[in-house]
Amino acid sequence: MTAEYTVQGPVAVITLNNPPINGLGLATRVAITDGLARAQADVAVKAIVITGVGKAFSGGADITEFGTPKAFQEPNLLSVILAIEASAKPVIAAVHTVCMGGGLELALGCNYRLAAPGCNVALPEVKLGLVPGAGGTQRLPRALGVEPALNLMVSGEPVKSEMLAMLPGQQLFQKIATSPGTLMAEALAFAAEVAELRPLPQLRNLPCRHPQGDAYFGFARNMVKAMAKKFPAPAKCVDMVEVATQRRFADGMARECETFLNLMCTPEHRALKHLFLAERAASKVPDVPVDTAQRAILSIAVIGAGTMGGGIAMNFLNAGLPVKMLEAKPEALERGLATIRKNYAAQLKKGKLKQDRLDQRMALLSTTLNYDDLKDADLVIEAVFEDMGVKETVFRELDRVMKPGAILASNTSTLDLNQIAAFTQRPQDVVGLHFFSPANVMKLLEVVRGDKTAKDVLATVMALAKKIRKTAVVSGVCDGFIGNRMIEQYGRQAGFLLDEGCTPTQVDQAAEKFGFAMGPFRMGDLAGNDIGWAIRKRRYLEKPHLKYSKSADLLCEKGRFGQKTGAGWYDYVPGKRDAIPNAEVVAMIEAHRATLGLSPRQISDEEIVQRLVFSLINEAARIVEEGIANKASDIDVVYIFGYGFPVHRGGPMNYANEIGLFNVVQAMNRFAKNPHDDASFWQPAPLLAKLAAVGGVF
Ligand SMILES: NC(=O)c1ccc[n+]([C@@H]2O[C@H](COP(=O)([O-])OP(=O)(O)OC[C@H]3O[C@@H](n4cnc5c(N)ncnc54)[C@H](O)[C@@H]3O)[C@@H](O)[C@H]2O)c1
Repeated sequence: MTAEYTVQGPVAVITLNNPPINGLGLATRVAITDGLARAQADVAVKAIVITGVGKAFSGGADITEFGTPKAFQEPNLLSVILAIEASAKPVIAAVHTVCMGGGLELALGCNYRLAAPGCNVALPEVKLGLVPGAGGTQRLPRALGVEPALNLMVSGEPVKSEMLAMLPGQQLFQKIATSPGTLMAEALAFAAEVAELRPLPQLRNLPCRHPQGDAYFGFARNMVKAMAKKFPAPAKCVDMVEVATQRRFADGMARECETFLNLMCTPEHRALKHLFLAERAASKVPDVPVDTAQRAILSIAVIGAGTMGGGIAMNFLNAGLPVKMLEAKPEALERGLATIRKNYAAQLKKGKLKQDRLDQRMALLSTTLNYDDLKDADLVIEAVFEDMGVKETVFRELDRVMKPGAILASNTSTLDLNQIAAFTQRPQDVVGLHFFSPANVMKLLEVVRGDKTAKDVLATVMALAKKIRKTAVVSGVCDGFIGNRMIEQYGRQAGFLLDEGCTPTQVDQAAEKFGFAMGPFRMGDLAGNDIGWAIRKRRYLEKPHLKYSKSADLLCEKGRFGQKTGAGWYDYVPGKRDAIPNAEVVAMIEAHRATLGLSPRQISDEEIVQRLVFSLINEAARIVEEGIANKASDIDVVYIFGYGFPVHRGGPMNYANEIGLFNVVQAMNRFAKNPHDDASFWQPAPLLAKLAAVGGVF
């Protein structure tokens, strides 16, 4: 059942019932138009109420129909709304909880709208790179006024029903119910009241004007240009609302339809749609059923109050969970506490946090130097030095003290989780929780699944990630897991580009023009060049056949570790993050190039970007093939949420699909002929080669 039809006195009630959010899929649309027809035919029915059961009035389109012909199959949403407008009897929308996208457009097609207080109202299409496509751009400005309607469309963010109902002259909600519980009774009473009123009001007949249209739309265009970055949809929202003020309703609808369909064909829409689905897919682990029982996590312990430990603790404090932090020495604890206080104070200063909330959070935090104090925690996360010996000491202690069933997690970025798990008698309870720095800010969480990690442990930490607002992706055990294993190859290419003739600035600018938040050298300076140096030193011993540029080692030998030392690939002024090119670094790169016997060559931005991005894609293909990542789209989630990959390109795998895997392999074959580059580097991963050969996609 996707919508139920009942008659209550003189009112027919069509109740959307398509869990979880009453998405307007084909069956639901059919049920609505059937209900409307029944109501027209029943002489006893004087008015019709459309409402929804469960968590939403309607969240809009049904995501299972995304990009399928079903989404457009008749009756499509436009036709459903036309059927409402054609009703000889008044149609009233009774909305509660969530009224978004197509759900709001459906309500806008009704003659009257009642809302429960606290209802989230939004047109979020812009977040998928689209404009509303079922009349929202033309009806909402008529209902709400030009400026509030445009703000709603461009931000895509929900606004509470009672806030919208307070706007002067608004026609969106004729009434806000006293409480969600009384909404239906009030809607039925309202329906009886307006049953005989004619003509039936329709938003399409209302005027739509702005007193200073030209000036306002000029201003609005400038505003969205800055925030829209590479996305065309926000500017199109401005166009659509301007059309609503200048043209007849029917013309506006035609323009909306044309614009919507054009945006559907853009790579930006495909990228956003892909990420929307990829993020949801990442939270599902193939062999861990959704109904897997979870362990209760009500208290957390964190070992190590350094860069990561403090940020990790903040995530749980923010979610209202008590945290006990353990350190080796009192002064280290004090330093960690001071950093947490400083971070919260900064949020307070910016107005992002209120004093009482800050106090509540700090009250949840306690500290200790004694492992026995941790024994009752449900989850313990270790964030001590990246050294197997230190990890061994910590995990043996944890195994000794922690209560049975507690989850033991490590934040290691490179070490073998299976080895860490083997330090305990309970490897099934051990999992990797790889947070990214700054841990209280970055959305990504790599959940590292050891060979023996229990399914309920995985289910528990995936759910917990949601609670602390992280986007979690499961990775198998390998050196660097998904993200850092790929970034190592990207870093190697960045180094070869210096050897062959580029400056750090040239490489960074090309990457940033492509859309990366930061080029590889600015990123190295932010993360600390010493981290990569330590990894390379290990590689030189473990894999002596692998080729690396030595420039980064020479840089580190000069103590230029990046922002933390005030100098890296660039210079930094204290308190600022601007990267200032340094002539000595460029001279150092040139001198190293000379020792290699290479003459510098002009390298195009296109080659720079391809070598950087294709190195990511090739390693990612191996990661998918080896089963380290469960699916290709997980790679995209990791790179978008953890590594600043351009959102409008949808992640490395989506980008590869967009440009064609055949073309990726062709370019790699060209790079393999470059005598300085490492030919074996460009050997296409078997999965990539196989898909490219058959014209497939990841
Ligand atoms: N810094 C990053 O960007 C980053 C990102 C992801 C993961 N990691 C990983 O997180 C872990 C911690 O890294 P960090 O950057 O926070 O290091 P850090 O040096 O800033 O902090 C480590 C803390 O652990 C404490 N410590 C050391 N041995 C201890 C012990 N036996 N018992 C209790 N406390 C002890 C130290 O006093 C120090 O305060 C490492 O495994 C690292 O690989 C770091």
